[in-house]
Amino acid sequence: MAIRRVGFIGLGIMGAPMAANLLRAGFQVTVWNRTAAKCEPLVAAGAKAADSPAAVAAASEVTLSCVTNSSDVEEVALGAGGVRDGAAPGTTYVDCSTISPEAARRVSARLAERRVAMLDAPVSGGDVGAKAGTLAIMVGGEAEVFEHCRPVLEAMGKTIVHVGGIGAGQVVKACNQVAGGLNLLAMAEAITLARRAGVDPEKMLEVVSAGAAGSWMLANLGPRALKGDFAPGFMVELMQKDLRLVLETAAQTHTALPGTALVNQLFTAVEAEGRGRDGTQAIVDAVGKLSRGAGD
Ligand SMILES: NC(=O)c1ccc[n+]([C@@H]2O[C@H](COP(=O)([O-])OP(=O)(O)OC[C@H]3O[C@@H](n4cnc5c(N)ncnc54)[C@H](OP(=O)(O)O)[C@@H]3O)[C@@H](O)[C@H]2O)c1
Repeated sequence: MAIRRVGFIGLGIMGAPMAANLLRAGFQVTVWNRTAAKCEPLVAAGAKAADSPAAVAAASEVTLSCVTNSSDVEEVALGAGGVRDGAAPGTTYVDCSTISPEAARRVSARLAERRVAMLDAPVSGGDVGAKAGTLAIMVGGEAEVFEHCRPVLEAMGKTIVHVGGIGAGQVVKACNQVAGGLNLLAMAEAITLARRAGVDPEKMLEVVSAGAAGSWMLANLGPRALKGDFAPGFMVELMQKDLRLVLETAAQTHTALPGTALVNQLFTAVEAEGRGRDGTQAIVDAVGKLSRGAGD
């Protein structure tokens, strides 16, 4: 049976446009957000607001969430008035937050006691991809649950890959953050060198973005950094949360990730300046400062 009723918990930078795309795709959408005012634009666009995650799950065949970290997912899924309290047997919970693989497995096991299936489906593509419905979505869980939920995921993303059992989506997201973090550092070093060597960094970005060294970071965040626009698509403090998850998984698996550790330290310097809520393009300033001497 095709899914018609979906729910969405957590209407932040990512969740709000993802829920809007579900509405646009024709699903009946029920939403809940801890700060209730963030439901208003979605209600104006045709969603129903519920008064708890349990009420969202009770109204939905598939309930999605996109909240901050592992403990937040455990709270909205398993806490009092959470998804577990409202979801009917046979329904599915899809978490799109970036959390630890262990937390995803713990939540899944508790939901399975109520015959509620779970997919971990973290996303990549930033606020830009969330709005455009072009996210990359890496999905862990049972293959047949994934196939059942595919139309829901397709309303929010373009590249949707089933990568293994529950928790595998989060492992792939950790790999994504390794590559993303190092691409941010590459962007910051390229901009710093252009500036210090007296070349217009905008021209540098224009041509380098189009060649073999191009990246999403160079194309999307480089121009924002050059304009001094540090508004978050993805906040430094969330990146740090993700890098801690990456380094935990690396430690557990005896994996040396020296580049990722360096990116983590540079973002610690950004946070130390009170800029944890800036966008990750703030790494450009941290790298730039390393070369600023008395004469600059
Ligand atoms: N932004 C990106 O580019 C990006 C890209 C890929 C993945 N992600 C991941 O997506 C997730 C959300 O990121 P975001 O950028 O959308 O963050 P955000 O704008 O800060 O939104 C976080 C959302 O989670 C809700 N929330 C947090 N803790 C909660 C709790 N304990 N109970 C209930 N609701 C809670 C917040 O509610 P309030 O409104 O009440 O605060 C808000 O709706 C994170 O795991 C992040 O790592 C983000």
